[in-house]
Amino acid sequence: MEISLAGKVALVTGVGPNIGSGVALALARYGARVACNDVDETAVKACIARIERNRGEAMAAPGDVTAESAVQAYIGEILARWGRIDILVNNAALLGGRGVLDETAADFERAVRVTALGYFLNTKHVGRAMAERGIRGSIVCISSSNGWSGTAGIIAYAFHKGGVNNFVRAAAMDLAPYGIRVNGFTPTAPNPDNPELLAERARAGLGTGGVLTGGPGGIGGPAGDEPWRRPSRWAGQRPPMVPMGTTGTPTDIGHAVAWLCSDYARLITGTDLVVDGGARARNFAYAPAPAADLAGPLPLIGLDETEI
Ligand SMILES: NC(=O)c1ccc[n+]([C@@H]2O[C@H](COP(=O)([O-])OP(=O)(O)OC[C@H]3O[C@@H](n4cnc5c(N)ncnc54)[C@H](O)[C@@H]3O)[C@@H](O)[C@H]2O)c1
Repeated sequence: MEISLAGKVALVTGVGPNIGSGVALALARYGARVACNDVDETAVKACIARIERNRGEAMAAPGDVTAESAVQAYIGEILARWGRIDILVNNAALLGGRGVLDETAADFERAVRVTALGYFLNTKHVGRAMAERGIRGSIVCISSSNGWSGTAGIIAYAFHKGGVNNFVRAAAMDLAPYGIRVNGFTPTAPNPDNPELLAERARAGLGTGGVLTGGPGGIGGPAGDEPWRRPSRWAGQRPPMVPMGTTGTPTDIGHAVAWLCSDYARLITGTDLVVDGGARARNFAYAPAPAADLAGPLPLIGLDETEI
């Protein structure tokens, strides 16, 4: 049995070069036509080019996910061109932020707004387009491990990603009568694997990326220098903290989201799928063996044939 999304149309929001682009590419490689949304038109163009050079079909759906008129406009354009939407991946979000003692009202509101209104408005208008056409589609809301447990230094992100998890359950109840499924997907600090992004980072003399590879962010205090409240993030080697040695890549996320949007998952709704090498399941007191002592996962099945 092969998973196929042939004949289906997908909309992915926030197709920046990391996770959004990886999910959009995966849906295209499994056969869907993919509409690519972002507020940054360069990101939209890059994602479309990535899909097309991997023999997929894509269109632009640029716009701000928090503006209802923009959301309705790009959904209207997708329907005018392809006549249907079967899959929505709510992915656009603002990452980063500050801790509760330091966050500003304006930045807190901005971050919450992108996820809250973005996920709501796209679910509402894509849900309507599905229901009106009798399409028993799939809506996936990208959450984060920070929506399930606490990390210091990102209070707005923690708030809106926690909100995503119960939004999924409630929207699943609203849309179940129409045969439309709504699920969450929880990434945990995947390692970027978009060849273009990696090449760009290499040219700029940066590492391979991933949110945990930066330096420790100071949090709290007027000068942010209270040692007992730092660091907010682990800046050392990550693999020893993950039971299988790696949290995976956007390609791993893409394979799983594609399956979740396929007809094989027809009764899966209101739940959360996590692909992270066991990171979220780990009890704080369990220390995995060093990566060199682990068998490691099976080899990754790549989706991007780009040679850089
Ligand atoms: N990177 C990680 O380690 C990680 C971990 C867990 C969860 N996630 C989640 O995965 C998703 C993607 O993360 P990423 O690392 O690829 O982030 P990213 O910042 O690279 O991409 C997010 C994209 O959303 C777009 N965007 C922001 N505001 C928008 C708006 N108002 N309208 C339309 N587009 C908008 C940005 O322009 C950007 O291209 C997010 O939901 C994030 O919370 C990421």
